[in-house]
Amino acid sequence: MMASCERTACVAAVADVAPAVSPRRALIFLGPPGAGKGTQAKRIARKLGLPHLSTGDMLRDHADRGTELGLLARPIMEQGGLVPDEIVLGMVAERLSRPDCANGFIFDGFPRTLPQAQKLDELLQRGPWGKPLVVHFVVEAEDLVRRMTGRRTCSIGGEIYNIHDQPPKVAGRCDVDGGELIQRSDDRPEVIRERLAAYDGKTKPLVDYYRSQGVLLDLPGGANVEAVALTLLEMVETGASPA
Ligand code: AP5
Repeated sequence: MMASCERTACVAAVADVAPAVSPRRALIFLGPPGAGKGTQAKRIARKLGLPHLSTGDMLRDHADRGTELGLLARPIMEQGGLVPDEIVLGMVAERLSRPDCANGFIFDGFPRTLPQAQKLDELLQRGPWGKPLVVHFVVEAEDLVRRMTGRRTCSIGGEIYNIHDQPPKVAGRCDVDGGELIQRSDDRPEVIRERLAAYDGKTKPLVDYYRSQGVLLDLPGGANVEAVALTLLEMVETGASPA
């Protein structure tokens, strides 16, 4: 008890000078499709030196390589549904067991259902991570659709652009590696509708699940990418919502 009080006092003293990076390095980015989770996860992962774990990227990689898992997942993803929990959970448990996750990680797009969240709680408690810090991206519905229909992704490095708000310097080419920019097959209007419905029905309840555990912070995600990144960094460093 004494030791933890001393540690709390020490962290508070340091925070007066410069915000200490949160000791909770198990970060979960929760929010609807198109909210900006991947964009921000890539940036902050580079800044904090943590692995960015996107279950969507992992599943797309399996689908591109034509693995058994990918063959199962592809049609579900193309219709905007959710891939079965047991498939996603197996993939995530394997990824978390790798050494680069020992000091923390950023989940983007996982968990997405209550069973996924409950299993993740178990994995975090059994491992070195403890309670996560869940960042809930809050963005208006009409902005989500505009962001998804305008999204383009680098076919080489996965860098994310938007033809409306985040265009590349040269049309159709990635600023970082010159790769061709492609449109995701699930960014078609009819699939976007299904993805938003899947979010509302199966993922949104996790906001209350994590809020009731006292580990969730709301991130106003409607501003431009730079402004959201600054707010997010402050939240992760202080473990509190912006004033
Ligand atoms: P996934 O790849 O995870 O897609 P998603 O959750 O639907 O999220 P998105 O990637 O669409 O959005 P994002 O929030 O990352 O936004 P982004 O930063 O790209 O999942 C795809 C599929 O895989 C699922 O439908 C499901 O089938 C399956 N799946 C994945 N995980 C699963 C799981 N755990 N369980 C079961 N199934 C699973 O930004 C979007 C656009 O907006 C970009 O163009 C970007 O440039 C732009 N933008 C970003 N921020 C801003 C801003 N602040 N202002 C203006 N524009 C912005």
